[in-house]
Amino acid sequence: MAPPPQALLARLHEANQAHVLRDWDARGTGARAALVAQLEAIDFTQLEALRVAKPADALPPRFAPVQVTPAVFRAEEKARGVDAMRSGKVAALLVAGGQGTRLGSLQPKGLFPAAPLSGAPLYQLHAEKVFALSSHYERAIPFLVMTSPATDTLTRTFFAENPHLSFAPDQVRLFQQDTMPAICPHSGRLLLEAPGKLFLSPNGHGGALTALADSGLLAELRARGVEHVFYFQVDNPLVKVCDPGFIGRHIAHGSEVSSKVVFKHDPAEKVGVLVDADGRCSIIEYTLLPKELAHERDDAGELRYRAGSPAIHLFSLTFLERVTSGSAAALPYRPALKCVTHYDPDTGATVPAPPASAPNAIKFERFIFDSLPHAERWLAVETRREEEFAPIKNATGPDSPETSSVAQLALYATWLARAGVETNGNLVEISPLYALDEEELAAKAKRLPPLTGPTILQ
Ligand code: UTP
Repeated sequence: MAPPPQALLARLHEANQAHVLRDWDARGTGARAALVAQLEAIDFTQLEALRVAKPADALPPRFAPVQVTPAVFRAEEKARGVDAMRSGKVAALLVAGGQGTRLGSLQPKGLFPAAPLSGAPLYQLHAEKVFALSSHYERAIPFLVMTSPATDTLTRTFFAENPHLSFAPDQVRLFQQDTMPAICPHSGRLLLEAPGKLFLSPNGHGGALTALADSGLLAELRARGVEHVFYFQVDNPLVKVCDPGFIGRHIAHGSEVSSKVVFKHDPAEKVGVLVDADGRCSIIEYTLLPKELAHERDDAGELRYRAGSPAIHLFSLTFLERVTSGSAAALPYRPALKCVTHYDPDTGATVPAPPASAPNAIKFERFIFDSLPHAERWLAVETRREEEFAPIKNATGPDSPETSSVAQLALYATWLARAGVETNGNLVEISPLYALDEEELAAKAKRLPPLTGPTILQ
């Protein structure tokens, strides 16, 4: 029986991690090789430093509320964004590697039925937006979808089997993010998923940047003439993918990163806020914003730190190239206390026995917003929550399927009312293939027959 490589064994003993080899002799050759590969990739000094780091270390030393411009776009801004799309300068990047733990669905979140009447899954809504934009502007917008080991197979199946959207060859590109181990918060020991197998989880949405570079996709975008990458997250059905006015303003400003914000009215709302940290843009997580600042109000009675982030960003390709090369290459890992079911090699038991409860692990994730302070020129554009942000995060309560459905229906009802369509109190869902925005809906509204029941416009 081949022993573990000597150098690795020495590193494991030094880092107090030798427990991971306890079942070595019982494992087959393939499993042993896989475990060695997992362990060779780990920087134990970094893990220990992360375990003992203080959360406040993640705060910028000085910061102030951010200046915003409203998401009311002039015709020239829209025209500029449209022109960028027509000339192939824009790509869409959807991150969909998360495990959706809070929602509690066993499938990738992208397959969650999010549309209020049709039950169309999130992937379909996003794909329809990219497809509709590509048809309007007669240019295939590259659609990059980041998956993780947890979501990859079913996501691939979805895109392979989705028959009603005929994307151009190579338009939809799936790529996988990296994973990170988890450790015990007390001992710092690596957690195992099963005997001889590390517990690994996706390395956060910030993993998108290195994954894009490592997969060769950044270079490919450069070769295709793409200059701007619109970043969005899978759980927000209302996101205005590649919003032309937003793109136009970003280009006109020469921005490296532009971010949408929605105003927070409740200091307890669980979204990070954009701040100006010595002239750089930064996002402070809701858990880290000191309570007195979270509650501080300005003369108008509004929260001072109210620029909540719906995680909608537009990156210049040059910026993405810069932050994925050289010394800026790695965004920091942030530790988070979570509850994970894992195998305990000391007792041979799986802990905690479901239902899981108290946090028993530290997971490490990179956050996309940690790239923002690297931008020399940046913009914050304030949009209205009702128009662009109705995330599905939790199974019930705030940010749940129910609140998202209500928000989607309310937005469509507003579009219809402003277009003069009488709904007779009927619920209406508007597919992105029918209308991407209020203007497109208004143009088609005249042809609508009277609505006699719940209606899906598609
Ligand atoms: P969240 O931070 O809300 O995480 O992700 P989540 O995995 O969806 O849900 P919880 O926290 O386990 O309940 C926001 C966005 O970032 C993506 C998610 O797929 C979602 O689009 N994400 C998150 C990744 O792509 N990879 C990750 O490692 C984490």
